[in-house]
Amino acid sequence: MTTSWESPSNIALIKYWGKRDTQLPSNPSISFTLSKCKTTTEVHFSEGTGVNITLDGTDKPEFIPKIEGFLERIMHRHPWLSSYNLQIKTRNSFPHSSGIASSASGMSALSLCIVEFAQKIDFKFDALNFYQEASILSRLGSGSASRSIYGGLVVWGGTPTLENANDEYAIEYPHIIDPIFKNYCDVVLLVEVGEKSVSSTAGHALMDNHPFRSQRFSQAHQHLSEIQKILKTGDIENFIRLTELEALTLHGLMMSSSPSYILMKPNTLKIIEEIREFRRESKLPLSFTLDAGANVHVLFPAAMKEKGMAFIKNTLIQYCKENRFIADHVGSGPKRLTNFEK
Ligand code: PMV
Repeated sequence: MTTSWESPSNIALIKYWGKRDTQLPSNPSISFTLSKCKTTTEVHFSEGTGVNITLDGTDKPEFIPKIEGFLERIMHRHPWLSSYNLQIKTRNSFPHSSGIASSASGMSALSLCIVEFAQKIDFKFDALNFYQEASILSRLGSGSASRSIYGGLVVWGGTPTLENANDEYAIEYPHIIDPIFKNYCDVVLLVEVGEKSVSSTAGHALMDNHPFRSQRFSQAHQHLSEIQKILKTGDIENFIRLTELEALTLHGLMMSSSPSYILMKPNTLKIIEEIREFRRESKLPLSFTLDAGANVHVLFPAAMKEKGMAFIKNTLIQYCKENRFIADHVGSGPKRLTNFEK
């Protein structure tokens, strides 16, 4: 039997950085789910054991240990997996070497395939519903993947100001938001392609003894509370202030951990300066956020798409590797597929 899903990547506005126990977050986070940056995965389940994986039709034995580690981590919830062989075919919409993390889209697509199959064989899982279970499994694959299970704005991690938000699985942002945040654009500028010098796993671990850890974790709760007012009222000025602060705080934490490290590149800073200057001069609400790498996510409302794209094509493109960028926007979440289109 075969199941197939496509699942998008996401970009955090308030960042998850630091974890405990089994991939539980040290602080709450909120993200926009993307649309075009996605992974499509098909899993063929048959009786037996073992895993095969292909990416874009090519065998990838080097991915097997990571997938096996993931399956071991979820086995306590899905013991039936021990008597199945999984043939996984996967494909990313973005180039593998683009520096865009494929773990959120990849782990969520795989988890959705597994939970759908569990449902088909009538396995009764612990979570309340299909998507909660898929979010828990995704989280066990890669923390931020837990948020890719839903479209729009998604929260992961318990926080006193949001009922139902919890550390185990992500939830759709439960309140009404100003329409300005509905089709928000996110253009990913590819500053650096290829593997990062320090993995997210190593970065999270450095938060364990970070001198600013408790201040950071309480700041994230405070920011989650602030962003809720911003989302409701469409307060774009404070949206920009807060999300840029979050991005630079994430990198500030990397620079102030021991050992310290820097993932931004000279062109990352050039882009940030250009964006701030553009905003000062044009008074248009175009801003940036960063994930744990050198690439820059340029954020702006859909209503200024033409001007935003013109600025990127005229000014920012010179700082991108081989002029590469991915013009994405907030999307509606994963889709179950009936055919794995080649
Ligand atoms: O899911 P991980 O372990 O790759 O961690 C991702 C962490 C950030 O992307 C930097 C922030 C986030 O909340 O997505």
